[in-house]
Amino acid sequence: MAKMILDCDPGHDDAIAIMLAAGNPSIELLGITTVAGNQTLDKVTRNALSVCTAAGIRVPVARGAAGPLVNHQVVAGDIHGDSGLDGPYLPPASFDLDPRHAVDFIIDTVMSHEPKTVNLVPVGPFTNIALAIRKEPRIVERAKSVVVMGGGYTRGNVTPTGEFNVWADPEAAEIVFRADWDVTMIGLDLTHQALASVELQDRVRAVGGPVSEFVLDVWEFVGSTYRKVFEFSAPPIHDACAVAALIDPSVITVAKADVHVELSGRWTKGMTVTNFQDTPGMHHTGGVAAELTDFRTNVATQLDWSKFGDQIVDAVERLTVKVIA
Ligand code: BDR
Ligand code: CA
Repeated sequence: MAKMILDCDPGHDDAIAIMLAAGNPSIELLGITTVAGNQTLDKVTRNALSVCTAAGIRVPVARGAAGPLVNHQVVAGDIHGDSGLDGPYLPPASFDLDPRHAVDFIIDTVMSHEPKTVNLVPVGPFTNIALAIRKEPRIVERAKSVVVMGGGYTRGNVTPTGEFNVWADPEAAEIVFRADWDVTMIGLDLTHQALASVELQDRVRAVGGPVSEFVLDVWEFVGSTYRKVFEFSAPPIHDACAVAALIDPSVITVAKADVHVELSGRWTKGMTVTNFQDTPGMHHTGGVAAELTDFRTNVATQLDWSKFGDQIVDAVERLTVKVIA
């Protein structure tokens, strides 16, 4: 079983990530931590509790950072609505928050488990993880891996080069990418392959019951905003890709790269500047590239769609059995 802390800002795709993490038998979900991102901290924390309540998930939920390290906070109401999770009915929380701040929850959990057993999966701005590193640097060697949803090597979604999670708190992202741990970057190049297609929606509909209904309502709302804002035919399930990769690394193909976050560009602030180790036709021995040769990050390039879709359907089925029992 892979032990995981899911750090999130629900968020439609975050909601699916929570359900996948809680519904997959090879994941031990140690807790959910929240961070301001898609909406304010109050709203995303409420949403995390509602998702857990709707899907019969009972794990510690700890509230974290209310805003980025340096930037002013910017929310993504155009995609996720005023609540941060518009669309599905959001039941009132059936349990209380963990009393700890998310940063302390992360530190306590990583440090109290055996070395190299706890995986961190940040799928909102990386503020909590960066603060946890600053408060307790030993988490870097103690954690097993970090699988982030954020960034992209050919595209952005807030600016031409800026993906929301990295762009919202670039300094925090740079801290996470520079730390000496095993990091995998699941960026937009990968997550734009993970669309909630009509076929996947039909498979989830066939499961029936309240969890299936919740998931379909999630996709209906975010499907409409993605159509309007990006002209996508179906909404990407970004954050669930990071959970899926931890469940089964063969769901993604990765390539080694040096990833730096642009912190001061006029047009490119928040860009994940990605220098691949093995890029045909390029070499990295001279000029500026020589500074970008710390090829420590696993950058996801290809998604195995059928394995990913199967994981989602399987998790919905398992959660449904528990909820209606
Ligand atoms: C990321 O930004 C958020 O809007 C989503 O939840 C996802 O984590 C995609 O850029
Ligand atoms: Ca998110």
